[in-house]
Amino acid sequence: MLKIGIIGAGTMGGMHADCFSEIDGAEVIAVADAREEAAKNVASKYSARTFTNGDDIIALDDVDIVDICLPTPFHKENVLKVAAAGKHVFCEKPIARNLQDGKEMIDACNKAGVKFMVGHVLRYFHEFSAAKNLIDSGAVGKPGVVRTTRAAGHPQGWSNWYANMEMAGGVVLDMIIHDFDFLRWCFGEVERVYAKGLAYSGIPNVDYALVTIRFKSGVIAHVEGSWAHPRGFFVTLEVAGDGGLFEFDSRTSSPLKVSKKSSDSGEGGVEVPQNPVNESPYTMELRHFIQSVAEDKEPEVTGEDALRALEIALAALQSIKTGEPMQFPLI
Ligand SMILES: NC(=O)c1ccc[n+]([C@@H]2O[C@H](COP(=O)([O-])OP(=O)(O)OC[C@H]3O[C@@H](n4cnc5c(N)ncnc54)[C@H](O)[C@@H]3O)[C@@H](O)[C@H]2O)c1
Repeated sequence: MLKIGIIGAGTMGGMHADCFSEIDGAEVIAVADAREEAAKNVASKYSARTFTNGDDIIALDDVDIVDICLPTPFHKENVLKVAAAGKHVFCEKPIARNLQDGKEMIDACNKAGVKFMVGHVLRYFHEFSAAKNLIDSGAVGKPGVVRTTRAAGHPQGWSNWYANMEMAGGVVLDMIIHDFDFLRWCFGEVERVYAKGLAYSGIPNVDYALVTIRFKSGVIAHVEGSWAHPRGFFVTLEVAGDGGLFEFDSRTSSPLKVSKKSSDSGEGGVEVPQNPVNESPYTMELRHFIQSVAEDKEPEVTGEDALRALEIALAALQSIKTGEPMQFPLI
């Protein structure tokens, strides 16, 4: 049984704890959050110990894996401490707020000989892994142009940290970095990035970006990200090649929708949206990490992958700031 400590008991820490409870061979035994109530809320569901300082979790002898679910600027110092303690580390995306920090995190984990994986969970979403299989199998021939959209309302977090560009990096660094990792997974290394967006507009609690990526393979991607939608979250993906096109739109694809008629008893009809996929991509992602540790294998999403996704996001932000295209590699 691998024993897990979670640092950060906000949205992702709570969700990860639920996911670990579904994974054989994994057990959350400790949860830390600067807000004691938040730590208790998550820990109490799984009879885990509660701490207000992550260092106390890292110091626990019986913790094998530490899961960092803190706001992005706190990833580095915690990953370095976990590696120094000789424990394996899962860290939410983005790996870090800048490339130097990301590199130091990778080096520290390599030096300590511990497993390190970053939460680029899109690879575990069924529609995206299916899309990757379609691309690899040549279903649309040689890919030429790709379009993605990821749109949501402005996220809410501890101390409104998502609204702080220095901390979260806006919709580009925090959200469409998922698409950057997915696209690089599918189409390889990047040659050039050009972007427009609202990152530096000063409009509070709104962000939007349109990023154009040219890959070395010649593929061109248009990546749209929005934190300007008042409600709802949707995703689209379109891949066009010389042999055809496939597309996905989360607004029009409902895996299973049951609409019941009113019964004779006079009860109102109830529309129940359900998803036949009974395992969340987050559980699949974390199960993969647990297996990587148990079987001493390199995780599918490496620290280097996470660093490259961050590089694309930082290039896009720089392009938004300067109005100039960014040539790769940045480092
Ligand atoms: N993979 C995904 O789909 C996904 C989705 C959302 C967020 N994220 C990432 O997950 C990370 C966490 O995001 P979130 O939405 O859970 O944030 P959040 O604001 O909901 O939670 C962060 C928690 O950290 C705690 N905290 C802050 N500073 C602390 C410190 N120094 N020590 C201990 N606790 C501290 C806060 O009290 C809060 O409970 C971010 O890097 C974010 O980008 C990933």
